[in-house]
Amino acid sequence: MIKVAPSLLSANFLNLGAEIDRMARAGADYLHFDVMDGCFVPNLSFGLPVLEAAAKGPLPVDVHLMIDRPERYVRDFARAGARIVTVHAEATAHLRRALDLIRQEGCLAGVALNPGTPLSCVEYVLDAADLVLVMTVNPGFGGQKLIAACVRKIADMRALLDRAGSSAILEVDGGVSERTAPQLTEAGATMLVAGSALFGAPDAAAFIRAVKAG
Ligand code: DX5
Ligand code: ZN
Repeated sequence: MIKVAPSLLSANFLNLGAEIDRMARAGADYLHFDVMDGCFVPNLSFGLPVLEAAAKGPLPVDVHLMIDRPERYVRDFARAGARIVTVHAEATAHLRRALDLIRQEGCLAGVALNPGTPLSCVEYVLDAADLVLVMTVNPGFGGQKLIAACVRKIADMRALLDRAGSSAILEVDGGVSERTAPQLTEAGATMLVAGSALFGAPDAAAFIRAVKAG
């Protein structure tokens, strides 16, 4: 079953509680929470106090850390209520240590790859990962167009996970819409992040149903 994680970045920030409830009622599985530091990505978003509030809502929170040396903050995000914490392979010299720390804190450990980063960067840490995130846009902003070349990367990641006997969630983030979703799930994605297309859809429940149907 495909899981859908609405990206809070595209919500109406004046009504975050209502927006999260709306997504839960529409059938979302997780709340995707994008943290940016202005260094790893050229943008800033929100952090710990907002997570603490969001984690009190009805959806488990999937935290996507787009920050340098994320191991510095893993403990704080776990304790603020994250269910999944994902770090970027490009952002740390000690990827395995960061993933181990996430599991020690009782969360699911995720590793993300930018569009230009080869799969080999995660090959030897798959046993330490509960989730791999294939970025289909350059991270930093919502509302970008999906990079077509990344669809093959999803299929390659699927093959790598299967070869390794990994049952990790294969998450895809960036440019997901009702139009692009079928090729992503066909390639092997099991969890789709959707920001601008989902929050802008006239009927969020219909969007989520369509995306899950593949
Ligand atoms: C981008 C973020 C995404 C973003 C997705 O850096 O990681 O989660 O919010 O937004 P859309 O779905 O609009 O591409
Ligand atoms: Zn994200």
